Amino acid sequence: MKLKIGELTFLLNNPEDIKHVLVTNSENFDKGPRLSSPRGKRLSGHGLVTSSGSVHLRQRRMMQPVFYRTSIQAFAETITNETEQKLATWKGETEVNIREEMMSLAKSNIIKTVFGQNFEDRMGELGKAITIRRTYLNHVYFSLLPFPEYIPPKIARDYRQAGKIIEETLYREINRRREIPYPPHDMLSLLMQAKYEDGTGMIDQQIRDEVLTVFSAGLETTGDALTWTWYLISQHGDVQSKILIELEEILKGRVPDVGALPKLRYTAMVLGESLRLFSPTWLFVRTPKNHDVLPSGISIPASSKLYLCPYAMHRNGRYWSNPEQFNPERFTESAKKERPQFSYFPFGGAFGSVSGKHLPKCRSSWCWLPLPNVLP
Ligand code: HEM
Repeated sequence: MKLKIGELTFLLNNPEDIKHVLVTNSENFDKGPRLSSPRGKRLSGHGLVTSSGSVHLRQRRMMQPVFYRTSIQAFAETITNETEQKLATWKGETEVNIREEMMSLAKSNIIKTVFGQNFEDRMGELGKAITIRRTYLNHVYFSLLPFPEYIPPKIARDYRQAGKIIEETLYREINRRREIPYPPHDMLSLLMQAKYEDGTGMIDQQIRDEVLTVFSAGLETTGDALTWTWYLISQHGDVQSKILIELEEILKGRVPDVGALPKLRYTAMVLGESLRLFSPTWLFVRTPKNHDVLPSGISIPASSKLYLCPYAMHRNGRYWSNPEQFNPERFTESAKKERPQFSYFPFGGAFGSVSGKHLPKCRSSWCWLPLPNVLP
């Protein structure tokens, strides 16, 4: 669908077209100009999210081991610990602001996944700095009328100060890991150990940019996903009961580990449906490097803008009956097979099981989060 909004822009509403852009012919597509422009790189760094083409591919392949199963197991332990601590603060019938609680949980999860379970030093200060950076980037990137970078001055000043705090913490943690014989098995150590094909590793500045990427890509997304899921569950008592029965049956009161996740099928279906209705990354952009023709026959000139909008596709009546209705049953194995693959793409180009062994063929950009056989 061609949109009449200034520049030549298309909203893709055909799953085959989406697959073409994100997977089959992804080499012909750059990320949107907001992220990949020199300004985007200056603000968000030269990490995975802002890079494309061969630079992205080299970086992506080098970092993939950070998300191998063994690492995920260690991250999962950190995450369950943080969650238990959060739950311990919810006492009795206390009312909580679920959005605030989920954002704070997402933040402590991401900080401790990067810096290790025992990281406590300046935790509060770092958490605040990450929030300030996120607010500022939302302000300059996503507001309807994006402000110049230096207005309002207070937000811009706070952003620079926050950047200093994050950078100081990060470089101190990098140096600390170099001084100790057995660095902790956290994301920062894994990034420091990761090697390109020629055997070299990342320079400190690149490590910084990738950590900043994780802070931006992994915080609001998970916070929003959890918040919407709680909201939906709270509105559907029948779903709530089914989740509780499954948790009791599978976990029998234990805290879940990575091994238990594929068994929690109904819970995953609920998450899948929540991500359908309220995809945290509800829109992202690609730009063709060269003229291309989409599988639907639409001709797209070089440098036009393509909007990939999970929000719109996930509510498209052609692929989803009663699209506004919350119904986890859409995510049974058989129901999933009946739909075109890219009628659902909350994680971008990720499809099926993503695992290390697919790595050499990986040419596209997809989220790091989906684990093999866990999320829909
Ligand atoms: C529910 C939570 C999440 C959702 C819905 C989500 C969604 C997405 C989407 C749609 C993209 C693709 C954007 C594009 O191709 O332009 C993406 C990329 C990415 N996400 Fe996530 N994300 C989530 C959580 C996370 C977490 C927790 C992390 C890190 C720990 C993460 C790290 C990344 C990275 C590094 C990329 C860029 C990958 C690349 O370009 O190769 N995301 N995410």
